[in-house]
Amino acid sequence: MPNIRPYAPRDWPHFLELELETQLEALGDSTEEERKTLRERLPALLDVRKGMARSGPRTPGVQLWVLENERGEFIGHLWLSERDDAVHGTRTLQVTSMGVVRAERGKGYGRLLMQKAEQEGRARGIEVIELEVAGNNRRARDLYKDLGYETVRRTMLKRLRGV
Ligand SMILES: CC(C)(COP(=O)(O)OP(=O)(O)OC[C@H]1O[C@@H](n2cnc3c(N)ncnc32)[C@H](O)[C@@H]1OP(=O)(O)O)[C@@H](O)C(=O)NCCC(=O)NCCS
Repeated sequence: MPNIRPYAPRDWPHFLELELETQLEALGDSTEEERKTLRERLPALLDVRKGMARSGPRTPGVQLWVLENERGEFIGHLWLSERDDAVHGTRTLQVTSMGVVRAERGKGYGRLLMQKAEQEGRARGIEVIELEVAGNNRRARDLYKDLGYETVRRTMLKRLRGV
């Protein structure tokens, strides 16, 4: 059975790779240039904008959990951040990112990570969990919907290139 444990610096390359893959997929209909830029910038963006570096999270209330298999290998992660909703001040637990490595998908591990998020929310006395998901990420959207998440916002985009 896989195990969920706190992040350690040895997880960094695996975390970064899965995070990059997820963000590249979320770019959807993107140019090679955009994908190359994201690849180059991601470590710095994670560090400067989100306080996440090889040494781990450095912002209070932020946790990075790692899912590992029986052999201690990285198979997924769950990144949680606590925030007060800017509009109504409700304490909210944000699933900033989560993912399961490709070879291990479809085995219930994504669900397991999301259960961990709920467990953590309850332990902190937080009543709301929120997350953002790309419109093209059917699999993740199905999972969240099945777990009872509702869509509250939608970001729409139109590419003017070539129109
Ligand atoms: C989204 C993701 C985490 C799901 O993880 P997973 O371990 O494959 O998910 P699970 O095995 O727990 O499946 C949970 C649900 O997802 C859906 N699902 C799983 N496999 C699926 C497939 N092949 N096709 C469509 N839906 C599928 C089903 O609703 C499934 O429910 P079920 O358990 O009742 O069958 C995984 O696909 C992933 O890491 N994707 C890349 C990273 C990512 O997109 N993260 C989310 C960013 S917001």
